[in-house]
Amino acid sequence: MPHREATAVACANIAFIKYWGFRDEKLHLPLNNSISMNLAGIESITTVSLTNEHQDSLMIDGVPASQAALSRASHFMDYIRAIAGTDERVSIVSNNNFPMGSGIASSASAFAALAVAASSLFELEMTEQDLSRLARLGSGSACRSIPAGYTEWLAGDSDQTSYAISIASPENWDLRDCIAVVNTQPKVVGSLAGHRAAETSPLQEGRIASVLPRVEKCRSAIFNHDFWALADVIELDSNMMHAVMLTSTPMLFYWEPESILVMKSVQKWRKNGIPCAFTVDAGPNIHVICPAEAQNEVIHHLEQLPGIQNILTARPGQGARLQN
Ligand code: DP6
Repeated sequence: MPHREATAVACANIAFIKYWGFRDEKLHLPLNNSISMNLAGIESITTVSLTNEHQDSLMIDGVPASQAALSRASHFMDYIRAIAGTDERVSIVSNNNFPMGSGIASSASAFAALAVAASSLFELEMTEQDLSRLARLGSGSACRSIPAGYTEWLAGDSDQTSYAISIASPENWDLRDCIAVVNTQPKVVGSLAGHRAAETSPLQEGRIASVLPRVEKCRSAIFNHDFWALADVIELDSNMMHAVMLTSTPMLFYWEPESILVMKSVQKWRKNGIPCAFTVDAGPNIHVICPAEAQNEVIHHLEQLPGIQNILTARPGQGARLQN
């Protein structure tokens, strides 16, 4: 068999308006539109090659992946094999340059890179929209890592209509994400269980009923480069999601004491005139968003706080792409 392989790279993304809870678990159809920024340099690079083995294999960061991770990747490959009309098995080698399971969306960059690499390996003709839909089947938020820059996932109501589009290029607005890493351990409750639990919170209905104006405010803050409007809406939306998490059964409580310290400090710094705002995904690490000009000052302030293990920074990133 000729040795065929394809390699792709994709960024993680940070959600400004969150996806939490699905309308369809199997297809990863969300209940609401969400908006995110791709994170340049916080990436997965994934090579997929054909193998003579009878099963797929998966290496992540140089070690064989857990059975659960392999099953998830293999299940995703089944979608691609069905489209390609083949049952060929693959070997997947994926490397991340950030800690896995730390609230930085490793499943997003992983499945976006895998979608691009695997569809190229099987020579599938796919538009950006097709790739976004495909990546969504691996991990919901992965669909937002396919297009470039700032992206909006149009919730849709079917496999065909649920995908992400770019709403602004990476060059359009030079925001930075300064990620205060307070804990690099894998999270105890993964997002799948969290999405499932969301409907048990009495607050989820209110979050969904009120999300459209937040999506619109966030989108226009990006279009108008209005940082102060963006700050208000991303903190509100993050708090909404964490309020749902905290009131779900089982209860999900992702914050560490240091997370709270960072959130309170960010609010204080903003009152003192520094343009910065926090947002938190399903983990304890705090993403501090700021315009490029404020990055040094924000990092300087973060460095003064106790309990921060590391600070990662990212500018707006490109979409997922093949690597030669
Ligand atoms: C809190 O996309 O990781 O990061 O579809 O089960 O893979 P699966 O979930 P996932 O959920 C992400 C949730 C979030 C918010 C967001 O990115 O919008």
